[in-house]
Formats: sequence, C-alpha cells, structure tokens
Amino acid sequence: MRTQVGIIGAGPAGLLLGQLLHRQGISNVILERRSAEYVLDRVRAGLIEQGTVDLLDQAGVGRRMHAEGLVHDGVELSFDGEHHRIDFKALVGKAVMVYGQTEITRDLMQARAAAGQETVYEAEDVQPLDISSARPSLTYRKDGVSYEIGCDFIIGCDGFHGVSRSTIPAEVLKTYERIYPFGWLGILVDRPPISPELIYAHSERGFALCTMRSATRSRLYVQCPLDDQVEDWSDDRFWSELALRLDPSDAARLVPGPSIEKSIAPLRSFVAEPMRFGRLFLAGDAAHIVPPTGAKGLNLAASDVFYLWRALSEHYETGAMAGLDAYSQTALKRVWLAERFSWWMTSILHTFPEASSFEQQLQKAELGYLVRSPAAMTALAENYVGLPY
Ligand code: FAD
Ligand code: DHB
Repeated sequence: MRTQVGIIGAGPAGLLLGQLLHRQGISNVILERRSAEYVLDRVRAGLIEQGTVDLLDQAGVGRRMHAEGLVHDGVELSFDGEHHRIDFKALVGKAVMVYGQTEITRDLMQARAAAGQETVYEAEDVQPLDISSARPSLTYRKDGVSYEIGCDFIIGCDGFHGVSRSTIPAEVLKTYERIYPFGWLGILVDRPPISPELIYAHSERGFALCTMRSATRSRLYVQCPLDDQVEDWSDDRFWSELALRLDPSDAARLVPGPSIEKSIAPLRSFVAEPMRFGRLFLAGDAAHIVPPTGAKGLNLAASDVFYLWRALSEHYETGAMAGLDAYSQTALKRVWLAERFSWWMTSILHTFPEASSFEQQLQKAELGYLVRSPAAMTALAENYVGLPY
C-alpha cells in the first residue's frame, strides 16, 4: 500500500492535518493506537484561538463550532479579594472561543469518514522506517496481521508518549524540560458556569480555574499536590476546596453537583528540537508540552499543522522543499513564545511549595502590576488570544 503522507496519531493534530491535506488533494492515512471511542472520551482542552478557529474553517469543519461555540471577549483574574477583567476586545481587538477538544475531534472524525479517508484505529506497534531515505514507510499490526505503507513523508502527531520522537537519533535530538511541583485536578459537571467568562483565581491555598464547555456544563480545576490521586478527592472535597480559593462573591454562586469526569494532569514544559529528521516531521504534543495555564497546548498543535499543511501543499504543487526544510525553525519560534507565556501564566497564578518569602512578594507585585498596567494587560491579552502564525 502507498500514500503520500503517513500520519501517526488521530488526536487533533493528526485529524486536522489529514483533513486539510485531503482538501488539497494530498492522500494520507492515519494510524492510531487507540479506538475511536477512546480518543473521543478524553476530556482535554476547551479554549481555542482565532487562528485555530480559522484553520478548522479551512478544513471545512467549522459549522457546528460556530453554532455551538461560545465567543469570549475577556477573562477574569481573582486574587487578594480583588476581581479584575482583562478585556481582550478592548486591548487587542480579538476574542477566543470555548469549544471542547472532544467536539473538535468528533467533527474531524465525521468529516474524515464522510470523505472516505482511511484511519486505522487500534493499530499496534506502529513504526516509522527509513526516515532518512527518500522512501520512508510505516509498519503496524492489526488483528494479528502485519502491514506496511510506503509514504513520501511521515508526520508524527502521536502525542508526548508516542513512538515518533524516539525515532530521531538521540545525538540529533535536544530536549528542554521543566516539571512543576503540582498538578491540576479537573472535574466536568452538568452545572451552568458561575460566570459568563473564565475565572483564573490565585490564592494562598493554590490556583483554581472556572471554565466551561457550554452554557450548561462547567469544567473546574484546582491545583493539587503532585502525588495526589483522584480517589483522594471526593466531589464534596473538591467543591469545598474550590470555594475556599475563589473570591467569596464567586464562591457564593457555586452550585455543587456530581462530577461526570475527574482526572489529575501533571504540569510540564517540554520542547524537542529539531521537529524534523529526514522525512519524519513532529507536530503537536509529540514535539512539545506546555502547562495548561493559558490553554496553549491544542492551539500550538494547530499552528504546527498550519505550517506543515502550507509546506506540504507547496511541495506537491511545485516540487519545492523550502517550506519543509524551514518547518522546524518556523514552528519552533512560535512554540517557544507559547512556552514562555504558559510558563509565565503558571508562575504568576500558582502557589509554589518551595517559594521563598522574597519570591512570594515578587509574585504579589507581579499580579498587582498586571491588573493596573494597561501595557501589562495588553501583553497578556495578545498572547492569550494567540500570537500570529
Ligand atoms: P494528542 O491529543 O495526545 O494525540 C495523539 C494521538 O496519538 C492519541 O490519539 C494517541 O492515542 C495516539 N498515539 C500515541 N502513540 C501512538 C502510537 N505509538 N501509534 C499510534 N498512535 C499513537 N490543552 C489545552 O489547551 N487546555 C487544556 O485544558 C488541556 N488539558 C489537558 C489535559 C490532559 C490530561 C492532557 C494530557 C492534555 C491537555 N491539554 C490541554 C493539551 C492538549 O489536549 C494537547 O495539547 C492536544 O491534545 C495535542 O494534540 P495532539 O494531536 O498533538 O496530541
Ligand atoms: C481550559 C483549560 C485551560 O488550561 C485554560 O487556561 C483555559 C481553559 C479549559 O479546559 O476550558
């Protein structure tokens, strides 16, 4: 079997790239380790930048997003009994959209099925081969049978724990990492959001975030110790802790209810360079991870996909390799800017167990400055809505 582009991973990066390439007449096959149901059930990102919205439109999957997504012109920051709104529309003339990763994945899967494009789910032992040659291939097993697909290019969209990154020789790959001393405990609950916009709350007990998936469904997070288990957190404990971290006026609006999903995610910053070796290209979480504060993970996967889509389209139209040769450098510029922003948002809003009293005072000064300086608020706003591609 042959295809032009072999894609590993049917997360948002793989599915979006597959759909964009298909609309450009470029054949592709996606190999995914899990089942379609498993991929759809993972509750993850919820907030998308305008650039991601535009890309989903270009992929032809924007209809439900525009009908059901919620446009947000700003966010709230709460700390020290104060409540401040960062008005994106007024500061930088842009907005963001609340539309869950599960919904984006569902829209992309449906479009792919309707277009008759092949996705192999439950593909075992996927291996990229001969990536330094002009004729790489992908091998995998399915139901006990081995398969090989010849490709022009292989795109590793297989997330942080995928196989692609480790195929790049260790002496070529440079990695950068920071592990934070806490995680986020998140619950999904069928309760209307307590506020029309997201609330990022800093308190001495730790960070909390009130976000949403729709007008009737909330997604709520609290910072928790790294070694906490989901079982340590009953719903009652979660609601009481959240209330203690919010401004009393916000806490008064909480209506506790049973969680329909509860999970803990550790926080990590990670970048692998280069994002290309031979004919293998990495995109999304396969190449980089950001801590979730500021919601950049999914959006960064989308911008990688944009650069790859543009470069592959150019290649198949003209034979040029220039865009593909520049991919790693181009994508990494934006990756590092998002890494910086996510690290900064994390550092100003969380409680760091080992912070000295000096560092605690600096954090207070930073937050106080942020909400009083139009320049600082503009810097937050322009990063939050998404830097240009
Ligand atoms: P993934 O979504 O990880 O998709 C990779 C796919 O590859 C998966 O389907 C996986 O099964 C498949 N795969 C892996 N290995 C193989 C293999 N060997 N062979 C074949 N297939 C393979 N971002 C935000 O912006 N906001 C959030 O609130 C947020 N919350 C998150 C919560 C959690 C628990 C996690 C893990 C991430 C969260 N993120 C969040 C980050 C965001 O979800 C990711 O950045 C985004 O999913 C990246 O998309 P991706 O397609 O690159 O990778
Ligand atoms: C969401 C997650 C984030 O990390 C964030 O900064 C904003 C929103 C969310 O899950 O909706």
